[in-house]
Amino acid sequence: MSLSGKTAFITGAGSGIGRAACQILSRDGANIIAADINVKNAQETLQLIEKPDKTNMAVSLNVSESTSVKTALKQVLETYNQPPSIIVNCAGITRDNFLLKLSEENFQEVMDVNLKGTFLVTQTFCNAIVEHKVTKGSVVNIASVVGKNGNIGQANYAASKAGVEVLTKTAAKELGREGIRVNAILPGFITTPMTELVPDKLKEMFANKIPLSRFGTPEEIAEVISFLASDKSSYITGASIDVNGGLIST
Ligand SMILES: NC(=O)c1ccc[n+]([C@@H]2O[C@H](COP(=O)([O-])OP(=O)(O)OC[C@H]3O[C@@H](n4cnc5c(N)ncnc54)[C@H](O)[C@@H]3O)[C@@H](O)[C@H]2O)c1
Repeated sequence: MSLSGKTAFITGAGSGIGRAACQILSRDGANIIAADINVKNAQETLQLIEKPDKTNMAVSLNVSESTSVKTALKQVLETYNQPPSIIVNCAGITRDNFLLKLSEENFQEVMDVNLKGTFLVTQTFCNAIVEHKVTKGSVVNIASVVGKNGNIGQANYAASKAGVEVLTKTAAKELGREGIRVNAILPGFITTPMTELVPDKLKEMFANKIPLSRFGTPEEIAEVISFLASDKSSYITGASIDVNGGLIST
């Protein structure tokens, strides 16, 4: 199995893409650390993947607070004695509104979780990877198709995801010499609790723009996460991988 002997720390693990990533990476042999602000949901994820031969754990984590990220790392080190070599930044939120109506609070909240959260988790865990001399690190960040061309009602979200993409490229340049690869996946529209919030009329409009004529599944993103986490992608870093059914722009 491509991830045997590796441990993966996955944020946003209580739902949608993060939950599917836990299931697929476990199937591929990794130990799973399921981290989420809603730890009960992260624990539920573990129930879905529990394998007796694996050391899995759930962690309560608010990615936007550095103290919470540091506490999560401490808990992980207490259990595994070394940091995980795979980090998957999946935690994310939307607070949609038209630009002219968007509150400063909703702008900041989305930046804090999606962009600052990705920064804090990457910095904290990669420092530990370097300190503990863990080899073959792989960070996978979940950005979005809307970070490329923007999307009506998502000035905050699109800007945060554009930030995640370029943070990924910068991290790849800095961390290559440490043996850590850093890549981004840019999903299109994926059926999860996040997209349940999109009105049906808009969903239909988006589906019509997708060459494969449908939304994707969380598992279709998780398969690419597993590939980027594994040594099968050993010469890929700083890449942004589109997984969007052919959707070019929203
Ligand atoms: N669903 C899509 O169409 C789509 C498209 C492109 C990108 N994405 C991105 O994929 C990622 C996963 O999205 P999803 O669709 O699975 O959403 P989701 O809402 O189903 O899951 C998001 C998870 O993140 C957790 N979370 C939220 N704030 C957190 C915080 N501060 N700290 C820790 N955990 C937190 C939530 O509790 C939830 O379990 C997000 O980054 C999202 O922006 C989703």
